Amino acid sequence: MSSPPRRDDAPATRKPITLMKLAEKRALGEPIVMVTAYDHPSALAVEAAEVDMVLVGDSAANNVLGYPDTVPITVEELLMLSAAVRRGLKTPLLVGDLPFGSYEASDAQAISTAHRFVKEAGCDAVKLEGGGAMADRARAIVRAGVPVMGHVGLTPQTATALGGYRAQGRTAARAKAVLEDALALQDAGCFAIVFEAIPNEVTDVIMEFMEIPVIGIGAGPSTDGQVLVLHDLLAIHQGFKPKFVKEYAAVGQEMVRGVRAYAEEVRNRAFPGPQHSYGIAPEELERLRSSVRAVDRSVGLTS
Ligand code: KIV
Repeated sequence: MSSPPRRDDAPATRKPITLMKLAEKRALGEPIVMVTAYDHPSALAVEAAEVDMVLVGDSAANNVLGYPDTVPITVEELLMLSAAVRRGLKTPLLVGDLPFGSYEASDAQAISTAHRFVKEAGCDAVKLEGGGAMADRARAIVRAGVPVMGHVGLTPQTATALGGYRAQGRTAARAKAVLEDALALQDAGCFAIVFEAIPNEVTDVIMEFMEIPVIGIGAGPSTDGQVLVLHDLLAIHQGFKPKFVKEYAAVGQEMVRGVRAYAEEVRNRAFPGPQHSYGIAPEELERLRSSVRAVDRSVGLTS
């Protein structure tokens, strides 16, 4: 097996983002920018946009693989997408998402899956969802040498158990449970935690207890950074749009417009034009024409 590309050929102007750099940004109050990417062209785009962290999220399941939710995506599918993203990144920290069913059963399972993301896809870190027992899995992976990002609040892999895709921590008891999950992950050695779909005021309360970078998605402005799914922020496709999504471009519409324009030009023969076509020297063309004329059509060109 060939080794995945590393990040040591990053441009001199922008240094690779390290765990230490993230902690420093938190300490200085500099917002941390994280976004998802699932393929090589997207990786090149987010690299050029100079984000700090890239997550190959299991949201690839619904955003690029056509699954109804994140549950069915496999380790192999996420490894292939992560490796493609790795090949397009130089500076941001690359986090691979451990898919549902790949880490919950035992510490050994969690360590083995995490190692695959590092060794086979070149990820710098992995992310897992849930507090409670998952804090033990996080601790085991950290001890096995792989940095872990936690994820609390709305955890899509177990959305059914949480009552669907809805904000979490909306009662004092539920908010305290989110705080306990976050603290358990922090104690387990996670280098950062995602807070998803939590009321702003609850985030504000929990932030008072956090000593590691917290990256929010629908958790208000008081976190140390924000993450959005690339396909949501670029509006690559229509459909369900969570309240926390802000669209910064209408890429999906632009894709349809472009493909429609292409189809129309093919149909009315406006494409391809001379600028999209190859030429041949006139004397070579004449030679071709005379040799073709000389062929006895009854026996064909090959005789
Ligand atoms: O898979 C994903 O995209 C995520 C983000 C929402 C944090 O987990």
